[in-house]
Amino acid sequence: MGQQQPWDDVVAQALIAAAADRPGALLPVLHALQDAFGHIPEPAIPLVAQALNLSRAEVHGVVSFYHDFRRRPPGRHVVKLCRAEACQAMGGAALAAWLLDRLGLDWGGTTPDGGLTVEPVYCLGLCACAPAALVDGEPVGRLDRAALAAATPGLADT
Ligand code: FES
Repeated sequence: MGQQQPWDDVVAQALIAAAADRPGALLPVLHALQDAFGHIPEPAIPLVAQALNLSRAEVHGVVSFYHDFRRRPPGRHVVKLCRAEACQAMGGAALAAWLLDRLGLDWGGTTPDGGLTVEPVYCLGLCACAPAALVDGEPVGRLDRAALAAATPGLADT
């Protein structure tokens, strides 16, 4: 994971202002906020709404709709498992179910020690290496249980 800072109103305002003039500004603004804070903090919603002349409900709706945006801070490590077609055809669903069960998590959940978050992603462009995942942003493919366990930070300790 990259360096992510705690919520800071001034930083958020600056990020919003920097991206607010771009066409289709909402998504760039939200990405900038998530890059900085690791998620979309609740206090950011009214700031974004005001800057872009949207309702809070509209901003909430977009944050909820896109799987990329987190409502809560992620764990120290993030595993993103591909749930798109090619990976599903190669056993991705069963592999994901195994990992989530092993960790006691649902999609988007974080282990109690804050060490690991497991999120869905929908095609990484690694279909030829299905089933595939990103581990802290690094692509891994041709996964089976052993390979996924080896690639997942801290799994051996859970
Ligand atoms: S379907 Fe999983 S990488 Fe394309």
